[in-house]
Amino acid sequence: MKDIYILGIESSCDETSFSIVKNGTCEISTVISTQIDIHKKYGGVVPEIASRAHIKNITFVLEECLEKAGLKIEDIDAIAVTYGPGLIGSLLVGVECAKTLAFLYKKPLIPVHHISGHIYANNLVKRLEFPLIALVISGGHTELIYMEKDYSFKKLGGTLDDAVGECYDKVAKVLGIEYPGGPVIDKLASEGKVTYNLPIPLNDNTYNFSFSGLKSAVINLVHNENMRGNKINKEDLCATFQDVVIKSLTKKTMHALEEYKVKNLILAGGVAANLGIRKKFQELCQENDINYIFPSIKYATDNAAMIASSGYYAYLEGRRADLTLNAISSTELK
Ligand code: KG4
Ligand code: ZN
Repeated sequence: MKDIYILGIESSCDETSFSIVKNGTCEISTVISTQIDIHKKYGGVVPEIASRAHIKNITFVLEECLEKAGLKIEDIDAIAVTYGPGLIGSLLVGVECAKTLAFLYKKPLIPVHHISGHIYANNLVKRLEFPLIALVISGGHTELIYMEKDYSFKKLGGTLDDAVGECYDKVAKVLGIEYPGGPVIDKLASEGKVTYNLPIPLNDNTYNFSFSGLKSAVINLVHNENMRGNKINKEDLCATFQDVVIKSLTKKTMHALEEYKVKNLILAGGVAANLGIRKKFQELCQENDINYIFPSIKYATDNAAMIASSGYYAYLEGRRADLTLNAISSTELK
């Protein structure tokens, strides 16, 4: 069979990224230009600044990606782009770029859902095996997805309020940690002990999650301790917070694996870079004889390699968009 080269484009939040992936699993070149340093001083992503930065960067990132691969756009079989969900202005930059390239070079245009990209980041580690359960944990999402085969997504549950990454970032803020706080909390947690008392949110038998109450509990705890003049032990508070997050995520995920009789688990999304979360799942999967994959740290957070990988399977499915493709800020995975 002829090799298929997909050019992936990702610009849904604060990373401008291009990647070329061969046959869905073989990464040829990826370039990620992150805007973290620009947004840091505001304590989070500022949408208008993000879209402007994408416009400034996009052609340079594309050129660098092609140069690294030693390929020209003529050599590419199809162009896959994140059309949603995400920040509308940011998404539009990637979508317009993809449409322009597809039109100019007469290439098929493949619309890719951002969450499917996070799931297929694992396909670059090891070819996905089905059926599987995907736990998608990122700055914008917390979802449990059942997949019977490629490009078949059944949502079992999700967060009723904040996403887990959002909760990490907000807890970080109240502890005076710079955006994005997830990686720093992860590190502090590994140096602390579980000494504080925080509630496990939505500790029931559904597949839904809730993180806004946990966030408020941490904020209240910090304020109360400050009012009493007590010093917060950041390491211990992070360890306690992360322990509660892990308990919530593992309980629901292990329950889903059992109920659906699934032997494959993948973690996906930026929070899948969390070492504490990865390690706990590793232990549980070993105990329960579950095959477990998590993305490499580089491809846990937003990148275009995951979009190109997902785009390959969408391409095989015959999914195509025409030049009326529009960016959508909020859209279900299907
Ligand atoms: O997937 P992603 O790049 O963007 C979205 O699609 O939302 O995820 C970014 C999120 C941020 O909230 C960041 O704090 C979190 O992933 N994150 C982490 C870690 N690394 C990144 N959260 C916890 N522990 C980490 N090590
Ligand atoms: Zn993402």
